[in-house]
Amino acid sequence: MSIHLAIIGGTGVYDPKLLGAVERLEVTTRYGTALLTQGIYQGEKVVFLARHGTEHGTPPHKINYRANMAALVKLGVSRVIATAAVGTLNEQMPPGSMVLLEQFLDFTKGREATFFDGGEAGVIHTDVTQPYCPQLKQFLQRAAQNAALELLDGGVYVCTEGPRFETPAEIKMFKMLGGDLVGMTNVPEVVLAREAGLCYSTVALCTNFAAGISPQELSHQEVLDVMEENVDKVRRLLAEVIPLLGEERSCQCQDLGHSILL
Ligand code: HPA
Repeated sequence: MSIHLAIIGGTGVYDPKLLGAVERLEVTTRYGTALLTQGIYQGEKVVFLARHGTEHGTPPHKINYRANMAALVKLGVSRVIATAAVGTLNEQMPPGSMVLLEQFLDFTKGREATFFDGGEAGVIHTDVTQPYCPQLKQFLQRAAQNAALELLDGGVYVCTEGPRFETPAEIKMFKMLGGDLVGMTNVPEVVLAREAGLCYSTVALCTNFAAGISPQELSHQEVLDVMEENVDKVRRLLAEVIPLLGEERSCQCQDLGHSILL
């Protein structure tokens, strides 16, 4: 049985009690080694990847995004659902809400952000007009409806370098530029997925109003607390979407991607 779905998320996003035949995998690629968990979830073989490492030990700017995504390709994964904690700039997307990402603005610095960095790998300019898979988004919307969960759409995600939070002036600028949500991990993850021809979608969970909008200073503990209070919604959404993924890929993601060196 090949593995079609990978879920990328923080701790607690999947319920270990619902996961059968759990196996740890260590997948080595030319970019480094990725640690993954494989199991049977809702009757399907699914791979889970804890983006920050199993103990949340890796900060966003040091995550080996290329090793993670290349490992998924090596395992034969075709669809990736990522979850992400985000700050919100948009009153229509208050803390506690779940939002499907639509576009991103990239404010990262110096990350390894491509599989095509010249030499043997070649130089390829990948189209990211639609960074997130439209079909996967439809499945997630359907799953949300089935589970009576509110899933907002159309989020513009601003990716910052971190690990510090933003200044209120930065948040003001991001808002003027059309940003709705701010986080530190979606770029280059989404870009690498698109380059490799994977279907990729992100469910963002708003954990706090961003700096200067929030009445108080930001803390990682607040992010963790709100994530914990709301993670059950994400879990329910994931459990509901898996049975819908039997349908063939009808999107362009595979055609827009390229084969990568593994
Ligand atoms: N900024 C950046 N990343 C985040 C935030 C934030 O306010 N909240 C959760 N992740």
